Amino acid sequence: MENITTERLLLRPWQETDVDFVYDLYSRWVVQRFIGNEPRVMESRTEAEERVARFQAIDHPVHGIWAVTRREDGAPVGTLLLKPIPASGEEPPKPSDDVEIGWHLHPDYWGSGFASEAAEAVLAHAFAHGLDRVVAVTNPANEASQNVCLRIGMKAKGLSRKYYNATCELFVAKNPTVDS
Ligand SMILES: CC(C)(COP(=O)(O)OP(=O)(O)OC[C@H]1O[C@@H](n2cnc3c(N)ncnc32)[C@H](O)[C@@H]1OP(=O)(O)O)[C@@H](O)C(=O)NCCC(=O)NCCS
Repeated sequence: MENITTERLLLRPWQETDVDFVYDLYSRWVVQRFIGNEPRVMESRTEAEERVARFQAIDHPVHGIWAVTRREDGAPVGTLLLKPIPASGEEPPKPSDDVEIGWHLHPDYWGSGFASEAAEAVLAHAFAHGLDRVVAVTNPANEASQNVCLRIGMKAKGLSRKYYNATCELFVAKNPTVDS
């Protein structure tokens, strides 16, 4: 997984020293409320250790789960992910052919444009590495996340049950350099 740098941010692999931040981030209801079919907050530091290990386990030239950090002081501000999205269907879910982009920011850093700045860079990274398209799905009530999708140029496709056995707002970005 390669580092990605933007004007204000460095996206880098997760480290063991990020466990306290991950626990702080995912133990908050405002962060978790729109994530998953049955949202729940993280309840122990052990869970945060396991999450960091899972984040680190993605070993792929294009996909990744990055720690988004602020360049000026190295502070972690959230998570940016680019990975195969599970298709709706039987459990355990099978990955679809599509790749999703997603973002989870610590509320201390909302309202700064960091999610959009990081997501725009990851979308550019995806397309530079030849992906045809990238999707994003949000809970229909998650306007903040839908705004990120629109801010980075994704197109709203309406409600879809194609992924995660859930009805989500679907957004799609197509690689501008690929004919279709
Ligand atoms: C979704 C989420 C990442 C959006 O965060 P966000 O800070 O609103 O998004 P952005 O980084 O695009 O920032 C945009 C806001 O920053 C403001 N802003 C300030 N400086 C800015 C800058 N330099 N550039 C762009 N926007 C800037 C914008 O005006 C906008 O504010 P507004 O919403 O009040 O209009 C955040 O709400 C979150 O982490 N939620 C919990 C997890 C979650 O639901 N994830 C998505 C699952 S699908």
